[in-house]
Amino acid sequence: MTKIPLHHSKVHGAVVSAVTAVGTSNPDGSPNYAAFAFVSWVNIQPLMICIGINKSHRTLANIRRTKQFSVNIGSIPTLDEVNFCGCTRNPIKNEKFDTFYHEEDKEKLCPMAGNLPVCMSFSLVDIHEYPTNCAVIGKVEYSVADDSIMDDKKKFIEIKKLHPLLFSFCGPSYFSVGEYEGKPWAKNPRAGLKSIPPKESASPEDKGK
Ligand SMILES: Cc1cc2nc3c(=O)[nH]c(=O)nc-3n(C[C@H](O)[C@H](O)[C@H](O)COP(=O)(O)O)c2cc1C
Repeated sequence: MTKIPLHHSKVHGAVVSAVTAVGTSNPDGSPNYAAFAFVSWVNIQPLMICIGINKSHRTLANIRRTKQFSVNIGSIPTLDEVNFCGCTRNPIKNEKFDTFYHEEDKEKLCPMAGNLPVCMSFSLVDIHEYPTNCAVIGKVEYSVADDSIMDDKKKFIEIKKLHPLLFSFCGPSYFSVGEYEGKPWAKNPRAGLKSIPPKESASPEDKGK
C-alpha cells in the first residue's frame, strides 16, 4: 500500500457532511439564514449539535445575542436556496426561506425555514473559541419534519425521501446520497444486500486474508 503526504487544505474534503441552513434573528428582528457544513451531533441524550462558525459571520453574533438558533436540513431540491444563503450576506437571501416560528417562541428569536424538509430549534449551550472559528454547541428544543419524507407509519425519516444535500471540500462539490450499503452495528452488516461489492474493493485488512 502506498500512501502520499497530503496537506490539510487537501485532506479536509475527505469528510463529507450535510449542508444546513442555520436560522438566527438579526438585531432588527428579521430572520437570517446562512449555509453551514461544519455540523455534527456531539451528544445523544440530550441531543446536542456542534457547528463550526467563522468569527466574522453574522450568524455567530446573532447566536451570542439571542442564545438560540435553528438548524434546517438542506436537500437536493433546495440546493439553490441553501447555496445562495452561503454566498452572500445580502438580506435578500433570507427571503428564499418560508420562515415560521415555534408557537412558544413569542419573541420570534428562532426563525425556521419551512421550505426545508427538517427543521430543528436549539438553545445555546456553549461557545468554544478557536483561531478562525467558534464551535457553537446547542441543545435541541423542538424538531419537525415534512410528512412527505417519512416512512409509511410516519415514525422514521426515509433518507432517500429526504434527499439530503451533501458537501465536500474535494472540488469543492455537492453530492447526493448513493446506494444503501448495509446495517450499522449488525453482526453481518451487508446481509440482505442484492449485490455484495467484489473482493477487490474490500478493506485492506480483508485483502490480506
Ligand atoms: C456549502 C456551504 C457550506 C458552508 N459552511 C460553512 C461552515 O460550516 N462554517 C462557516 O463559518 N461558514 C460556512 N459557509 C459560509 C457561510 O454560509 C457564508 O459566509 C454566509 O454568507 C455567512 O452569512 P452570515 O454572515 O449571515 O452568517 C458555507 C457556505 C457554503 C456555500
